[in-house]
Amino acid sequence: MHHLITFACGAGICLASASALLAQDNSSPEAQAKIEAGESVYNNNCENCHGDQLVNTGQTFDLRRLTAGDRARFDNSVRNGKNQMPPWKDVLSNEEIDQVWSYIRSKAYQK
Ligand code: HEC
Repeated sequence: MHHLITFACGAGICLASASALLAQDNSSPEAQAKIEAGESVYNNNCENCHGDQLVNTGQTFDLRRLTAGDRARFDNSVRNGKNQMPPWKDVLSNEEIDQVWSYIRSKAYQK
């Protein structure tokens, strides 16, 4: 049934699903929903400093550089902050941080 839902969707969502399929195993509707949730958390909290669609102009860290093995570092820096970056542990839930991670992974240079 999930596939029927996917193919009945609007053009934008179908395109997003197709590109996620090419990128990595984000093909399930659940994984896709998590990435989309992460994108909105990102847009509301991180975009100002880290750039539209993660495209960074060089003032801050380019989040697309994070690799799959950087999860612990990501969690620590995001929760506790780093230098000019404020801490997020009192702002975002663990679930939201996890969603942002999925979004970042979906756009990472190294999958
Ligand atoms: C006020 C600007 C600002 C905002 C908002 C911001 N960041 Fe950052 N972020 C920075 C800066 C500056 C650095 C570079 C820190 C350094 O290494 O000195 C950074 C670095 C990072 C790093 C790399 C840390 C490391 O281990 O080297 C991660 C991961 C990160 N940010 C994630 C996020 C996420 C996720 C959000 C949204 C929840 C966010 N940032 C919001 C400014 C910001």
